[in-house]
Amino acid sequence: MPVCMLVRCCRAKLSVWAALCVLVLCWFYVFPGYRLPADKEIAEEVLRHGEAWRKNQTGIDLYRKLLTECCDPRRMFAVTKENSPLGKVLWYDGEFYYSHTVNNETYQLFVQDNPLTLPLKKCAVVGNGGILRHSKCGKDIDQADFIMRCNLPPLSKEYVEDVGTITHLVTANPSIIEKRFQNLLWSRKDFVDSMKVYGSSYIYMPAFSMKPGTDPSLRAYYALADSSSNLTMLFANPEFLHMVGKFWKARNVHARRLSTGLFLVSLALGLCEEVTVYGFWPFSVGLDEQPVSHHYYDNILPYKWVHAMPEEFVQLWHLHKSGTLRMRVGRCPSQDGVS
Ligand SMILES: *[C@@H]1O[C@H](CO)[C@@H](O)[C@H](O)[C@H]1NC(C)=O
Ligand SMILES: *[C@@H]1O[C@H](CO)[C@@H](O)[C@H](O)[C@H]1NC(C)=O
Ligand SMILES: *[C@@H]1O[C@H](CO)[C@@H](O)[C@H](O)[C@H]1NC(C)=O
Repeated sequence: MPVCMLVRCCRAKLSVWAALCVLVLCWFYVFPGYRLPADKEIAEEVLRHGEAWRKNQTGIDLYRKLLTECCDPRRMFAVTKENSPLGKVLWYDGEFYYSHTVNNETYQLFVQDNPLTLPLKKCAVVGNGGILRHSKCGKDIDQADFIMRCNLPPLSKEYVEDVGTITHLVTANPSIIEKRFQNLLWSRKDFVDSMKVYGSSYIYMPAFSMKPGTDPSLRAYYALADSSSNLTMLFANPEFLHMVGKFWKARNVHARRLSTGLFLVSLALGLCEEVTVYGFWPFSVGLDEQPVSHHYYDNILPYKWVHAMPEEFVQLWHLHKSGTLRMRVGRCPSQDGVS
């Protein structure tokens, strides 16, 4: 009898310990041991480092290789007829357990193959950070060979000097179709007209990431197709997004979801010979200690727990310091050499 009780007691203790261990492991997974520097420390480090930058071909080659191995951006960045034939199951990367099986209706909407002519030479990835305001980076950006922008940003006259005019690829979050264009239920004209500013670029939509995003994405596709728009719709491949998420998770970015900006930077590092990023500064105070708005066009804050912007910034900063990409955080140098 006492032996039996002892065993029982041990068992109970063991399961308590096991539960504790699991809790501790979860804690370290969510809040890893390494400490993220405070905003102020990051700003000081950026200032200390100054403008000096040197391209590092070894770093560029290394990241292209790493990203090709993990995520195969050339073949996988968009959903194509080639990588997603009829009957293929697309697992949503932003849902726990949900998929779409490619059918006759959706298959027709996919491009045949990766439409980009590779390799791309100089790429610019333009985030929407308030740091772009008064940056005078427009000309600098427009000189790139391939320009990527995030989430249908405004490119109206007042911003041209700071953000440029040319776009080759622009992402669109499905929620913007719902909110800004009433899910295209009433009028498609507003939407089609406001897309004209992006010329004949690719519009890149995560149609198969979150359940509620599929319908608005397909609507956006039809709205553009029916108006013989010059834009080409590309659906982001959820498998690619998932793999890129894992790639950065292994590098200390612990977000529920990566920001669109970091997805684009990853794509650019995989496809381009040279990458410059603009408008990435997720802090409310600038290098000059003046307040910075959240976007260059407004100051609406994002939902806090979804993205891990400061963590992402630290990774980009490492890439900048090693010369793998160039990050512009201050004003761009004057083009005519007058400055
Ligand atoms: C260049 O990049 C490689 C690979 O990331 C890195 O090991 C090396 O230290 C970098 N060189 C310089 C000068 O930063
Ligand atoms: C899909 O379309 C093809 C050709 O249009 C047709 O032959 C086939 O029956 C369709 N399949 C389904 C499941 O509707
Ligand atoms: C598409 O591009 C052509 C040639 O650049 C231009 O004439 C036309 O107006 C454009 N169409 C739309 C809908 O923007």
